[in-house]
Amino acid sequence: MAAGHSSVGEVRVKPDRLHAFAMAICRADGSSAEEAKLVADHLVLANLFGHDSHGVGMMPAYIQNTTTGRCVRNHHAKISRDNGAVVVVDGGAGYGQVVAKEAMDIGIERAKKHGVCVVGLVNAHHIGRIGHWAEQCARAGLVSTHWVNVHGHKSLVAPFGGVEPRFTTNPYCTAIPRKGKEPIVLDFATSQVAMGKVRVANNKRVQMDPGLLIDAAGQPTTEPGVMYNPPFGAILPFGLHKGGGLAVICDLLAGALTGGRTHSPRTIKKDGHDIINNMLSVIIDPAAMGSTELFEDEVETFTNWVKSARPQVGVAEVLAPGEPERARRADREKNGVPIDTATWQQLIEVARKVRLRHRDSPCRRRGVTGGTIGEDDHGKDEALLLAGLALRRAKSGSLRWRPSSTRRWRW
Ligand SMILES: NC(=O)c1ccc[n+]([C@@H]2O[C@H](COP(=O)([O-])OP(=O)(O)OC[C@H]3O[C@@H](n4cnc5c(N)ncnc54)[C@H](O)[C@@H]3O)[C@@H](O)[C@H]2O)c1
Repeated sequence: MAAGHSSVGEVRVKPDRLHAFAMAICRADGSSAEEAKLVADHLVLANLFGHDSHGVGMMPAYIQNTTTGRCVRNHHAKISRDNGAVVVVDGGAGYGQVVAKEAMDIGIERAKKHGVCVVGLVNAHHIGRIGHWAEQCARAGLVSTHWVNVHGHKSLVAPFGGVEPRFTTNPYCTAIPRKGKEPIVLDFATSQVAMGKVRVANNKRVQMDPGLLIDAAGQPTTEPGVMYNPPFGAILPFGLHKGGGLAVICDLLAGALTGGRTHSPRTIKKDGHDIINNMLSVIIDPAAMGSTELFEDEVETFTNWVKSARPQVGVAEVLAPGEPERARRADREKNGVPIDTATWQQLIEVARKVRLRHRDSPCRRRGVTGGTIGEDDHGKDEALLLAGLALRRAKSGSLRWRPSSTRRWRW
């Protein structure tokens, strides 16, 4: 995604330590254990899948929003309209990781009963990686398609042919379950690049690839700072008029059809810090369409046929959607999750802000001593000291901060 050399280092963090750190931050901020776990599960899985834009780097924005009440802690989804196979679920600005899961629980149950369920999830705080919700449906054996919009946040993406931004990165996702195998998951932002990836590039101080951004005059640029410093530029939609059209459809289905509201001057908040997602999901039980065996067989036959295409020069293998994420997960589970030092610094700051304490640490309860999040004898926050030490080491040249089996500050 981003080109050029970063002047910023990275830390490599074991997934379970990262999970414990994210969960402890949430707990210290006032989330229930169940909520903190759902948030940490979601963000760390996004990191494992290689979508760092939607990983633990979102924590500072989440905690900023819980502090101001834009994200409501410990809130649960409520059905606001119930027509059986068509249901609208109000997220009440609760954590997206909680209310989207609950909305999908309802949709799965209804789809199994009626053969299909259309769920409009409205007014949810950021629901993160949309594939997470499609995978929840796929685990229940169901096909699902999801269109998502964002409001409250300032505009980020220019419409096809436009210079000024008019909506945000409106993701689209479809997942198809496979018998005995991981599902096919197509999950992407309808912008050339997800905003979180611009954030990561900006944090790393690297240039983006050409063709992704325009500056305030509508000229192509590779500088991620145009999205952070005035005069603001915009991200381009993907796929020219086709991708630009799909972005518009996402806002209309997720924002207008569900009643959740589109991205417009009526919903953009003054400071642009809200991240409210609406999502239209269509969840289908393959059994209701006919033979499940035939469906499963056709999915396998077609997928194998597609993957059998001779790869282009420089391409090792033709992959099905979802396979790149699983390959990255295998690598990161083994070698740790890379977190750029700017993001790590932001996590340390947010942990300080919520006054992380030892008693909040899931590490301690699980009896893990390495990387324990807590206070030392002098009443200082040990986790923050350790995380800061990791940061200094990363900045001083050892780009891969490797865990040690003997030191307490192993992460
Ligand atoms: N909550 C929100 O408001 C919001 C907004 C925007 C994006 N997002 C999320 O951000 C994440 C990243 O989006 P993105 O646009 O950067 O994704 P991306 O451009 O990395 O595309 C990912 C999709 O393309 C597939 N893919 C990638 N390379 C492939 C290959 N070589 N062969 C076959 N398939 C391949 C992946 O399996 C995946 O389905 C997504 O999970 C999306 O849901 C969320």
